[in-house]
Amino acid sequence: MDNAAERRALVASLMARPASIAPKYFYDRLGCALYGAICELPEYYPTRTERGIFEAYRPAIAAAIGRGGQFVDLGAGACCKAEGWLPFVEPARYLAVDIAREAIARALARLEPEFPSVELAGIVADFTNGLDLEADLDGRPVTFFYPGSSIGNFTPDEAGAFLARVRAHCRPRPGSGLLIGVDTKKDVAKLVPAYADPTGVTAAFNRNVLNHVNRVLGSDFRPAEWSHVGLYDPGHGRIEMHLEAISPQSVRIDGALRAFDRGERIHTENSYKYAPEEFERLLRGAGFERLRRWTDDAGAFAVFHAS
Ligand SMILES: C[S@@+](CC[C@H](N)C(=O)[O-])C[C@H]1O[C@@H](n2cnc3c(N)ncnc32)[C@H](O)[C@@H]1O
Repeated sequence: MDNAAERRALVASLMARPASIAPKYFYDRLGCALYGAICELPEYYPTRTERGIFEAYRPAIAAAIGRGGQFVDLGAGACCKAEGWLPFVEPARYLAVDIAREAIARALARLEPEFPSVELAGIVADFTNGLDLEADLDGRPVTFFYPGSSIGNFTPDEAGAFLARVRAHCRPRPGSGLLIGVDTKKDVAKLVPAYADPTGVTAAFNRNVLNHVNRVLGSDFRPAEWSHVGLYDPGHGRIEMHLEAISPQSVRIDGALRAFDRGERIHTENSYKYAPEEFERLLRGAGFERLRRWTDDAGAFAVFHAS
């Protein structure tokens, strides 16, 4: 989508009832920094648990991946998670894919002196518009790396389509695969605080999306007038994040006024949780045949290698 189409889609999603903002708008410079802070929160178990699984099973996972191919980091951000893998999988090429241009430029500049023998490249792309990396890949085996349960931001149908796109890039390159981290279904008492922490970091991350929208659209949202909501919807098996209007307000969006009632919500994120078997069905449905799975002792998070 071009910028004008992006803008139109964002305006339409804000004018709709209920209103929503696509989660990709979280990641301006401050949003990327706040996401980094969320990962340090005691309540936010996914990052720590995934890191623990990577550390515990590094040799087995690295053996499943193989060496010397292309390592494609989807939603690379600060590239910190991939950085831990590069010495073990020794790729010929590392491709950081992200919508946040500045974040990957900074991260690649940091990695360059550390990995002089790896060809490093950044690809600025919005993969909600379909994942087409054919022009960026060569013929070597490719490992797609999609950690942090970011796959949970898609609906299950969208996730299936996205995984099928990944598989389509793997198919003509024997030895290719996907390394992916997935958050599992669990007790609400553990799930919800991870998205509604008492320190308020997630609330700041959520409200900051309005600053980003204001810059993109020239709108006049006042973030302080919105409260953060993080809840679990057991029917859909997903965490939802919303912003809820503290008072009635009128926001100028693209030359029009959008009135929000007190208590009206803007839906900003879904984070679907999967039982490991559910996610394996999704991977098989996308065409992956050989699956391996690693989890922590409590089964709070799962890492899959699919090929
Ligand atoms: C939750 S962060 C994960 C960062 C890193 N991979 C990790 O696990 O720590 C999500 C990353 O995906 C990027 N992202 C979000 N939506 C995207 C989209 N539609 N297309 C491309 N990148 C996107 C964000 O800019 C951000 O860097």
